[in-house]
Amino acid sequence: MLEIRQLSKTIGSKMILSDMEFSLPAGGSLAVVGESGSGKSTLARIIMALERPTVGDVRYEGTLAPTRKTAAFRGWYSEIQFVFQNTTASLDPRMTVGQSIEEPLRHFTKLGKAERREMTAEYAALVGLPLSLLAARPGLLSGGQYQRACIAKALIVKPKLLVCDEIVSNLDVIHQHKIMELLQRLKAEQNLSLLFITHDLTLVAGLCEQILVMKEGRMVELFDSDSLLSGERHPYTKALLEAVRLLGRGA
Ligand SMILES: Nc1ncnc2c1ncn2[C@@H]1O[C@H](COP(=O)(O)OP(=O)(O)OP(=O)(O)O)[C@@H](O)[C@H]1O
Ligand SMILES: [Mg+2]
Repeated sequence: MLEIRQLSKTIGSKMILSDMEFSLPAGGSLAVVGESGSGKSTLARIIMALERPTVGDVRYEGTLAPTRKTAAFRGWYSEIQFVFQNTTASLDPRMTVGQSIEEPLRHFTKLGKAERREMTAEYAALVGLPLSLLAARPGLLSGGQYQRACIAKALIVKPKLLVCDEIVSNLDVIHQHKIMELLQRLKAEQNLSLLFITHDLTLVAGLCEQILVMKEGRMVELFDSDSLLSGERHPYTKALLEAVRLLGRGA
């Protein structure tokens, strides 16, 4: 479904990504894990066609990632959607939460107002966002509610793949857990494919079938999440796990 081939990115003389190569089958889920600065968000932006790779390519169902502002770009976004980190910038503060969730329908579909409103309520319910909050401004939402609204906004165009970049990093452990449960449910019920980016290796084993560990723009290893604790892991992967253990999260 999604194929990344020999992908590299340099900015000026700086290597940001080097020789990335992996694929994600339809309905599959992949976690991309690595410390800060390892290139995770750059990879996500390239997959979302917001940046071009220097070398290599991204294909979805065999089609190359489009350049911006083309008709194909629009098509890309009806298949692949994202929820990014620093989400306080994701919802327009001048709009109500409901208007923000509805906005992609105005861009990507020809649905009338009544249908758009109906779908907005449907998707708010799907992600567990109280309907009473649809009339509120985004500033009034808690961190977990804000993320739910962003997820609803991404899903309302019925994408097949959702790219999530550090979407639970700013949440407390309980709300992290709830968002992870929500993604798990969406994956099962909607057959949604997931690319889940995080620096926290212990978060992802229950959610994603495969884990890609990155360091300084390179792939360290790619493995089935079943073998996170049992398999012969790369020393860097072990060090990441150990670092989380030392922080008291336990693995
Ligand atoms: N436009 C740019 N110009 C120069 N350097 C950049 C640019 N974008 C990213 N970088 C550099 O690329 C590297 C990877 O950044 P990126 O944001 O992809 O990392 P990350 O893994 O997402 O980090 P974090 O976990 O902190 O979000 C960093 O060293 C960053 O400074
Ligand atoms: Mg990042």
